[in-house]
Amino acid sequence: MTLEEKVGQMLQLDAREDLDDQILRMHAGSILHASPARVLRARDLTLQTRLRIPLLVGEDCIHGHAFWEGGTVFPTQLGMAATWDAALVEQVARATAAEVAATGIHWTFSPVLCIARDLRWGRIDETFGEDPYLIGELASAMVRGYQGGGLGDPDAILATAKHFAGYSETQGGRDASEADISRRKLRSWFLPPFERVAKEGCRTFMLGYQTTDGVPITVNDWLLNDVLRGEWGYTGTLITDWDNVGRMVWEQKVQPDYAHAAAAAVKAGNDMVMTTPGFFHGALLAIERGLMAERDLDRAVSRILRLKFEFGLFENPRLPDAERIETVIGRPEHVALNLETARRSLVLLQNDGTLPLGDDGTPRRIAVVGPLADDAQTQLGDWAGSSGQVDWLPDGQPRELITTVLDGLRAHAPSTWDIAHARGADILTLEEDPEGAFFPDGQPRPQIVVPVAPDAALIAEAVAAAADADYVVAVVGDRVELVGEGRSTATLELLGGQNALLEALAATGTPLIVVLLASKPLVLPQSVTDAAALVWTANPGMQGGRAIAELLLGLIEPSGRLPISFARHVGQQPTYYNQVRGQHGSRYADLTQAPAHAFGDGLSYTRVEYSDLRIAEPVLGEADTVRATVTVRNTGSRPAREVVQAYVRDSVTSVSWADKELKGFTVVDVEQGAQATVELAIAVADCTIVDAQGNRVVEAGEFELLVGPSSRDETLLSASFTVSAGDAESAVE
Ligand code: IFM
Repeated sequence: MTLEEKVGQMLQLDAREDLDDQILRMHAGSILHASPARVLRARDLTLQTRLRIPLLVGEDCIHGHAFWEGGTVFPTQLGMAATWDAALVEQVARATAAEVAATGIHWTFSPVLCIARDLRWGRIDETFGEDPYLIGELASAMVRGYQGGGLGDPDAILATAKHFAGYSETQGGRDASEADISRRKLRSWFLPPFERVAKEGCRTFMLGYQTTDGVPITVNDWLLNDVLRGEWGYTGTLITDWDNVGRMVWEQKVQPDYAHAAAAAVKAGNDMVMTTPGFFHGALLAIERGLMAERDLDRAVSRILRLKFEFGLFENPRLPDAERIETVIGRPEHVALNLETARRSLVLLQNDGTLPLGDDGTPRRIAVVGPLADDAQTQLGDWAGSSGQVDWLPDGQPRELITTVLDGLRAHAPSTWDIAHARGADILTLEEDPEGAFFPDGQPRPQIVVPVAPDAALIAEAVAAAADADYVVAVVGDRVELVGEGRSTATLELLGGQNALLEALAATGTPLIVVLLASKPLVLPQSVTDAAALVWTANPGMQGGRAIAELLLGLIEPSGRLPISFARHVGQQPTYYNQVRGQHGSRYADLTQAPAHAFGDGLSYTRVEYSDLRIAEPVLGEADTVRATVTVRNTGSRPAREVVQAYVRDSVTSVSWADKELKGFTVVDVEQGAQATVELAIAVADCTIVDAQGNRVVEAGEFELLVGPSSRDETLLSASFTVSAGDAESAVE
């Protein structure tokens, strides 16, 4: 290969731009954001090149194939996390892979393994929530689902673990800000999920945008080489985030020009450079000037070529396949799986007995109000076709494929019920950004969000509908414009006319059922705290409205659990449950530090009691497994689908450590009046802390196993076990 051909292999370029230039002049090895027509055009162009090396086509198909018309759009990752069901998440990834592969896309930039901490961050919806163990379990399942039976599998696509590492540890929740994080803190919470999928064979890793200790992640030698490649032995492909190499010149200003930036990025171990066309000339110049050697390029290029070989692209470029598209996109099994995932993702947070709205034969009137009751696009969430990331699906997904809450109630409520509808409030308008805020590709983002004032006429219309109804269902939350990359929010309140609407609805005296359709936990007003019922749904995908209607009507059982805590106030950040044990006074003078709703919370329509937590052998060595049983009894009158959660508390630790950490969970179905004995197994080797020297160790001594329906202490049963000194206290890694 010539130098130009090698440098080009390292480039992943934006297929919405000049493909001829990218492929014929720059020899690009990969493209992203390519419409089907652009994929085919790009293929033709590669056939005109000397070596005809096939392209890798990447896309952000992160909760289904949302960029294909009619593709299945599942709940967002945060919604999937609320199911606490790794097998289900694996099936979602499998279905996504089959749809994506049929359309000529080889590589999805998913899953996200970032830990959600500051709720103002705009990308909370893309995470699996706040707990490293839950993230690890679900991310591992998702990678298995995407990569299937190996890269020879025609329905497999490449997975990406992103964003390596610490990107979510923001300043003030602002996206892509400095990540002020120590190595020990990274090792304690942020790295374990990445380590797991690296060792399990996730084929690609993507960097974030963050800078730590003054070092942009793109050139973070410690993380990329010592930890990822060195300690974990990772041999997969590393891709930058959007224009990370250019960013070191024009944004972070740590490199004087593209030649230096290209050399630094290649030497730090990056293989593929996303959307930095200047890398082409910069890398050639860097070699000419001796800033890097050709063998530095060879390392990266051989990793990319090996990936293409192993993926079989030289034999089969995996182009869009009309026949498979016809049979696989939106197939009935995927629609059913999507509905099931949406159902399982719903979390019932409050219920005074109003729910479910059963059918006793009496005709009823339900007022369905709120700005999100019939908002199909918000229901799909970010990275879903029409939120700006691609331009070939301008109107997003066909409206008839999406069931909103209003549609769902109209279709599934008993035929004698009257469903009235009023919007009641608007949330925001978009205006030109006076400061010309920047989107990652350096283009000015043309619009910013401006919340609207409450509209008295809209509220009056909703109040009239509510006053005249047996129940009012208010669907409120955040809209897609408030979610995503570069879209962090300063506030967590319900914006626009929503709080005024809720207050007015509460004043009618009609039982108020709030459906919070929100990409992330929001801060809820008193009218919601006092409401008869509250259901949280992340952006629940195409079938979300039907699932919500079924839950309200009691056609299904609520079984979702929070993968993330809800704050009481935006200033209460962070509220995650596994913070290091409290120092005296670590709370506000004017506010408890307890969250409004805790990690693991979620109600059922029945009553579930836990009892008889027993540990088989309470004195253990480091190589042993804590084996325990607990009885889960359904004493109510409806079936239960219970998420049994197991936490471990290390009673005394050599460093400040989390008071408890999730170490296991299992989903169990228990019929009314029945009970189940649930078996739990937790390896002692997983009961680790990271000591002051940064080593992950098991420390001998007393531990508690805590088992129950939520992370809140008052809900958990406890049993002790002891890890004896001897083989403990040795480094696990
Ligand atoms: O995959 C994304 C990443 O998560 C954020 N920046 C852009 C990439 C490609 O679209």
